[in-house]
Amino acid sequence: MAQLVPVDPFDLIIFGGTGDLAMRKLLPALYHRDCDGQLTPDSRIIAASRGALSQEQYLATVEASLRANLGEGDFDDKHWKKFSERLCYARADAFEHGDWTELVDALGGNEDRIRVAYLATAPSLFGPIANGLKTNKLITEASRIVLEKPLGRDLQSAREINNAVGECFRENQIYRIDHYLGKETVQNLLALRFGNSLFEPLWRRSAIDHVQFTVAENLGVGGRVEFYDRVGALRDMVQNHLLQLVCLFAMEPPSSLDQNAVRDEKIKVLRSLKPISADNAQSSTVRGQYTDGAIKGKTVTGYLDELEDKGSSTETFVALKLEIENWRWSGVPFYLRTGKRLKAKHSEIVVQFQDVPHSIFPEQEYNVSPNLLRIRLQPDEGVQLSVMAKEPGPGGFELRPVSLDLSFSETFGVRYPDAYERLLMEVLRGNSALFMRRDEVEAAWEWIDGIIEGWQVSKQKVESYVSGSWGPTASSMLLDRDGRAWHQDG
Ligand code: BG6
Repeated sequence: MAQLVPVDPFDLIIFGGTGDLAMRKLLPALYHRDCDGQLTPDSRIIAASRGALSQEQYLATVEASLRANLGEGDFDDKHWKKFSERLCYARADAFEHGDWTELVDALGGNEDRIRVAYLATAPSLFGPIANGLKTNKLITEASRIVLEKPLGRDLQSAREINNAVGECFRENQIYRIDHYLGKETVQNLLALRFGNSLFEPLWRRSAIDHVQFTVAENLGVGGRVEFYDRVGALRDMVQNHLLQLVCLFAMEPPSSLDQNAVRDEKIKVLRSLKPISADNAQSSTVRGQYTDGAIKGKTVTGYLDELEDKGSSTETFVALKLEIENWRWSGVPFYLRTGKRLKAKHSEIVVQFQDVPHSIFPEQEYNVSPNLLRIRLQPDEGVQLSVMAKEPGPGGFELRPVSLDLSFSETFGVRYPDAYERLLMEVLRGNSALFMRRDEVEAAWEWIDGIIEGWQVSKQKVESYVSGSWGPTASSMLLDRDGRAWHQDG
């Protein structure tokens, strides 16, 4: 386990401090970091929200939620007492800036220490809250602001948010979070590519046939249906998580892990994406929506039923063929798919290498499959390389693919920290390499806007898929047209 160093004393204000993200992710993450001794005794967490809650009511809510959301056996009464001493609640309405006295008082006298405002709220509140911090003179030299996704719903709204926040904070104080960048295996992608000399010569068009990215979930949209219906899978997952994975996979080697070195390389990938518009939307993308079905033997309802039959053409599944127009990747398709209520929660990147140029094994008897490199993101994080080997025995030359398999949890034998644990520590340390810069977010939206417009102009249909499947048939057809198939189907 890497050595854990405590971060300097801080005041962390969580706007939306009683909301779902704070309760399910942020506070459990901070609790874990506290248990590992990374928070100094005087560091404080201030929950801000518009409700009028007493300190006791707030602590009772956090305690109940930690008990429910921490892993089994992780809640400890003694530690909770210590952790609760750093928590406090302050009422602050995003639009009533004159009424922030509880927050102003809570922060008073601590102007020199690290001050982080985490906006776990709807994006429409980002500008008003940044402005409230400025109006109340709460922005110091050591201040940072963290913006949760979604950052807008298109390029224009993202720009408006960026402009509004940019009027109050410098770009190097703004941390736009994409929690996929905090996942251990996503970072392992960097370790795999740049900590080994083996792969780099193969990481290009001359050796790779195509790459598949799958981020599949087996849950439906559940309680978020109203929100989700305005968003859909393309904006919710592709604009951020999947494009970030593509960037880390496809970027040129950065000169260092320095925040701008990495982000400068990622933005070049985004700018090299071949546009998808009305001309090629139908042939390059698939939209799907789940219907009734069964997951792990349990019957589940369809999306429209969850929406109480209001009718909707929002996609809960997207598959697309992405092309990167540069020297390294020209001609190599990247197939992406993500969806809700699929067969399993399963995320991975599969790299299919080129066929051998000439088989010395007579075709009718032996089948030489291309090598596959699977980077499993979740669950069971690890890397698997399939190679052809000879079946043992004197009977002839039978070939079969076998796997060189590395499971990270078995190898390292430690609990995998949640992405938010790492990202919160990075903010507190002032390292923004794992956060998105303004130009990245806007370049991603520009590409996504093209697809959405393409769908509207070409009247692209939403295809139904049965819950518990791998998505609509059209998703398989997308690859079938190119003589390929998804590797995980079955
Ligand atoms: C969020 C999306 O960003 O990521 C959710 O808004 C999705 O719809 C979630 O369920 C998936 O995250 P993870 O870490 O469970 O893969």
